[in-house]
Amino acid sequence: MSLVDNTKNTFALTTPLYYVNDLPHIGSAYTTMAADVMARFQRLLGRQVLLITGTDEHGQKIQRAAESKNLQPEEFTNQISAEFVSLWKLLNIQYDRFIRTTNPKHEAIVKEFFGRLWKSGDIYLGQKKGWYCVACEEFKEERELLEGKRCPIHTNKEVEWRDEENYFFKLSKYQSHLEDLYNSKPNFLQPESRRNEILNFIKGGLQDFSISRVNLEWGFAVPNDPKHTLYVWFDALLGYITALLEEGEEATLESALAKWYPINLHLIGKDILRFHAVSWPALLISANLPLPERVFGHGFLTKDGQKMGKSLGNTIDPVALVEKYGSDAVRYYFIKEIAFGKDGDFNEDRFVEVVNADLAKNLGNLLNRNLNMVKKYCSGNVPSIASDSVSEDNALKAIGLKLGEQVKANYETLAFDRACEAVLRFSQACNKYVDEQAPWKLYKQGKQEEVEQVLYVILESIRLAAYLLSPVIPNISSDIYQQLGFGIDFNNQIETANSAPFAVHGKWGLLSGEQQLGKAKPIFQSIEVTNKL
Ligand code: MSP
Repeated sequence: MSLVDNTKNTFALTTPLYYVNDLPHIGSAYTTMAADVMARFQRLLGRQVLLITGTDEHGQKIQRAAESKNLQPEEFTNQISAEFVSLWKLLNIQYDRFIRTTNPKHEAIVKEFFGRLWKSGDIYLGQKKGWYCVACEEFKEERELLEGKRCPIHTNKEVEWRDEENYFFKLSKYQSHLEDLYNSKPNFLQPESRRNEILNFIKGGLQDFSISRVNLEWGFAVPNDPKHTLYVWFDALLGYITALLEEGEEATLESALAKWYPINLHLIGKDILRFHAVSWPALLISANLPLPERVFGHGFLTKDGQKMGKSLGNTIDPVALVEKYGSDAVRYYFIKEIAFGKDGDFNEDRFVEVVNADLAKNLGNLLNRNLNMVKKYCSGNVPSIASDSVSEDNALKAIGLKLGEQVKANYETLAFDRACEAVLRFSQACNKYVDEQAPWKLYKQGKQEEVEQVLYVILESIRLAAYLLSPVIPNISSDIYQQLGFGIDFNNQIETANSAPFAVHGKWGLLSGEQQLGKAKPIFQSIEVTNKL
């Protein structure tokens, strides 16, 4: 098993490839928002980033969904896949690759990969008997089922009995490899609770799993045995590799693996942990390929305590949500309010409360109020104060000097909520500082130098806060930056990489008196809820 080369300055990360059985819902958007935040943060650090997302389009679940709409699966998957593309645009997701598993190049990669496993002697023909949940596309143990033979995840769906000839993958052969993996790389799977869950699962003994289906048309045929179709999960996981191909490149594993592989981070929900943390590494070891660096399993978005999902039909329409409140507010709420890794409930009242308090009041009013004072007391110019001349004991400078590294550590460990909270606390400290220092009083007392220092310290602190939040709320951060006189749009990757690297902008003390302030305007209008979604 080869190790990941950490000296590479590239960072490849993935969202799951979403099933196209129905329109995207906010649960599917959740992982993608988090992935985009991570990708944007990595770009700030100066890394070359590849964010992969896409759609998982084969299998019985999709075939049935197409049938229920009286559409051919091709037409149906084209329609739904396009909805994901447009939602990602609406949510301001800057992905680099959008892989559809129905892409013909993908078939070539899947077949080549299958050939490798075959050569390793890890595929054999057998008989599969068991209960199958089509919504999960997974066999279930009888003991896991709810009353009435219902799936524990899709609680309104009954599982179906299967007794058929399938090709199997020898997962059992990789028991000790996986134990070694988990012992030698404690950070391979996070958070810790999920790691423990998987360790217990592995300890319980791994069983071979079937990787083909019969009586299913919608999928790739098994090489040399076309009455079998490859199991949708076998094909889906390999989508991560096909996505690495450059445009126009020949569809071979060698080309796909050349630049970005191994993938640095797979972001997934906790329901698909075993596929990514057990099956996927075993398949890769069998194919003699290096393993990804890290898998992170986040929690579920719930509504009234139940997993929100397409199969349960209790979802929130993300398009309506973004159209009503804007992408930054939606991104902010889910990233800040829910500890990544834990479950979190969506509630529209809470949503409005959080974005009003944090974005409109805490951050927005702070900027506005201080720009007004700069206009009044400093003729609208950034006070010419050298940041070095501000004492290290200054309440804001003291926090500001440490904030960048602290927030960086939070982003890198995917503790996005903590990153946001640290910045918000800083912004609260700024509000407190304004009240305590009362520059309007200092001005009346004729203490111009003090007024200038106080306002400089605040403006610089707002700048830093905006920069550190830019992966989460890129539009608001760009607005703040523009009002502070920086011509930087955080949605422009090249401009940001060239002009605002973390090494410079992630530190307190950058603002200079030469900076010409831009036109002041509110960055986020307080929301009033009239009609709830
Ligand atoms: N097609 C597979 C993934 C294949 S990856 C090679 C799949 N698709 S899915 O559309 O059902 O789910 C995709 C992701 O969305 C999963 O990570 C799942 O956890 C996540 N979510 C689906 N509903 C969710 C919530 N209610 N809350 C949070 N995430 C949710 O599984």
